[in-house]
Amino acid sequence: MATQKISYPETLKALRKCFSEREILLELMKNLSAGSSELKEVRTCLSIGTGYGGYDLDFIRICLPNLENLIVVEKDEDCLRELKINLDNQFKEKFDVIIMKCSMESFMEMFEKKDYDKLIDVLEENNSEKNFDEILKLFEKKIDIVLTMHVLYFLDPAQRMKLYRMCFDQWMNSALGRFVTVNVSGDDNATNRLLRELQLKEFVNSETVKEELEGEEVSVLDELSFECPMQMTDINNLYEAMKFCIESLQMTDFVEKIKMIAPDGWACHKGSLCVCAKIDGGALQI
Ligand SMILES: C[S@@+](CC[C@H](N)C(=O)[O-])C[C@H]1O[C@@H](n2cnc3c(N)ncnc32)[C@H](O)[C@@H]1O
Repeated sequence: MATQKISYPETLKALRKCFSEREILLELMKNLSAGSSELKEVRTCLSIGTGYGGYDLDFIRICLPNLENLIVVEKDEDCLRELKINLDNQFKEKFDVIIMKCSMESFMEMFEKKDYDKLIDVLEENNSEKNFDEILKLFEKKIDIVLTMHVLYFLDPAQRMKLYRMCFDQWMNSALGRFVTVNVSGDDNATNRLLRELQLKEFVNSETVKEELEGEEVSVLDELSFECPMQMTDINNLYEAMKFCIESLQMTDFVEKIKMIAPDGWACHKGSLCVCAKIDGGALQI
């Protein structure tokens, strides 16, 4: 009997039930907001890989009180359906929302090739009665902040480099723009250990992302590192999440791998939230 493939939002929620990352991030975001007047000036935000809202909407609610335009780039239909409901419930019509249903790679390619007809086709799909010329003008250095929360994993190094350059040199005001990124950190974080055991490609970690950004003369202004226990005994949730990546995954094999990385049922989830900017004069010391 064919089993129904679980959706991306369900997968992500299943995985996130195994640790208390959200609670930790909420506190870090509150601290960030309290210590930064710049974030209150942000009017236009580009969120890449927004998912169903998750951490991106938390960040917007806590750190960006004066947002006027949110542009979402997300390719997954189920995520977008849920995102629209979450936006409506949490923000009503507090700011204008523009949805681009496409991959980050094709989004960048459209700008690279100046393929404005294609960009307008993508805009038309989800944004009726909007002034598309005005939207496209926002990408002429008027984006104030870019959010990449747990999403750089899905770009290869060349595409990540392209993204950094487009954000800082084309879309954002080079002096004021902020690039916010959340990634797993260290080589021994639970996610990468599990991916390694399952012979899947590991996620790029925060240390590598920082090096890449600094190579582009982007400084890390704030780095908020965190770690929390990850419950590996909740096998069903983890299995659901991993089954999304490997359809043929067998529960018995999976349980064996879990026993190897977490003999007592617990592993360590590590990550960091970084706020980055391009500041003349090179990297700041943090
Ligand atoms: C781990 S989720 C993160 C969601 C959200 N940023 C959060 O932290 O709550 C990654 C998201 O990136 C999206 N994604 C993955 N690859 C993508 C791509 N190539 N282009 C656009 N979105 C992508 C997925 O559909 C998913 O919604």
